[in-house]
Amino acid sequence: MLAALREVRGTFGLGVVAKGKTEQIVVARRGSPLILGIGDGEVFAASDVSALVSHTKNVVYLQDDDVAVLTPKGYHLRNLEESKVFRAPTTVDWDISAAEKQGYAHFMLKEIHEQPDAVANAMRGRIIEPEGIAKLGGLDAVLDRLADMDRLIIISCGTSYYAGLLGRYVLETATDYSVEVDLASEFRYRKLNFRPKTAVLAISQSGETLDTLAAVQEAKRKGALVLGIVNVVGSNIARETHAGVYNHAGPEIGVASTKAFISQLTIVYLLTLLLARRQRMDVNEGRQFIRELEAIPEKIQRILAQADQIHAVAKKYAQFSNFLYVGRKFNYPIALEGALKLKEISYLHAEAYAAGEMKHGPIALIDPNFPSMCLVPRDSSYEKMVSNIQEIRARSGPVICVATEGDRDIYRMADDVIHVPASDELFTPLLTVVPLQLFAYYVALERGCEIDQPRNLAKSVTVE
Ligand code: M6R
Repeated sequence: MLAALREVRGTFGLGVVAKGKTEQIVVARRGSPLILGIGDGEVFAASDVSALVSHTKNVVYLQDDDVAVLTPKGYHLRNLEESKVFRAPTTVDWDISAAEKQGYAHFMLKEIHEQPDAVANAMRGRIIEPEGIAKLGGLDAVLDRLADMDRLIIISCGTSYYAGLLGRYVLETATDYSVEVDLASEFRYRKLNFRPKTAVLAISQSGETLDTLAAVQEAKRKGALVLGIVNVVGSNIARETHAGVYNHAGPEIGVASTKAFISQLTIVYLLTLLLARRQRMDVNEGRQFIRELEAIPEKIQRILAQADQIHAVAKKYAQFSNFLYVGRKFNYPIALEGALKLKEISYLHAEAYAAGEMKHGPIALIDPNFPSMCLVPRDSSYEKMVSNIQEIRARSGPVICVATEGDRDIYRMADDVIHVPASDELFTPLLTVVPLQLFAYYVALERGCEIDQPRNLAKSVTVE
């Protein structure tokens, strides 16, 4: 096995049983996740911790080119050069119930409903209220270097990329840093001139996304300070980054990311608070920021309580084939995320645009068979969003609006309205995303789709 693996190119996560040696499994990894579970008189191997927790909470994360021989009595580890290696065992800090549906029809629905907790857990122990600041222990060692950066590049894929896009708006609003966001898969093609004070922030739920991992390694090679916001403890990206923050969102099983996204956003807000308080945000503003954030879990609960109404709206639109999602400013990344959710689990075509772009092309698509999901909370871009909605109406396009509670004007221009509680505009994305997740879920349900494991998709994308 060792000799064969020395010849192998590319990534792998392997389990091999030799004919006639059924008491022994040889496992090996490069690039793909592989975790051992150490039980009492039994040893397991899996690509994800959630497969192990019903058997044991003691796990060992293997690293690239580790080869382990498992027997009922235990395991031993070598690298490809046949030297013994040691990987410290760790204990999984969440329970099996977190990896079960607990009465929900799907993991996705359960995870949508766990979002108030996901926000609270991301904040727990990370707020110093009297001083109006955030404390992110995982960044302590690099805080001065981070505060001194002159450029921040956020890299990620899929939903995590949209968390990064929102991060740019939020960080630029509250701090003086210059923030860029890039798809991890494109980052490596850029001829980036890294200055010494460049920091890179990777966002990944799984911590195993190969494109993000490759981008992290590239940024390290170029000398950047590389940070992570990662949910899965001990994952590749968590280990490769210089410092980082864990989400503590618990396992996310549904392929369509929901609670991890809201948790990523929460940490981006905490990071913003941390950096802003070292710049131009005063203590009172910091405390107000915290109050807004702390109010979010209860506001999300209020949106979840409208699940039946959102289901009714979804049922009405489930037979349409194409959707346009539009938003501006803080809600533009949420429009992108909402469209991705619908695509992933209902297999319907949905595209998202910054509403200001409509007149540059997409408005040509609008007709009575092309509904638009418009994110129109009462914020600084409200009037402009209203103009966009009127343009859609003028072309007989059906309009669904996500609007602020108490906004009665919106009924005059919308076919259907879903309400979110009022909040400071900086924080509206933490609310507006929730109805879009529920809308996608119920459309997929009405269409009889495989919600937790949509076709052609994997939870962790460990291939290029
Ligand atoms: O594990 P990661 O956050 O790195 O995953 C990135 C994307 O693959 C992921 O967000 C994907 O887009 C989800 N299926 C979205 O729901």
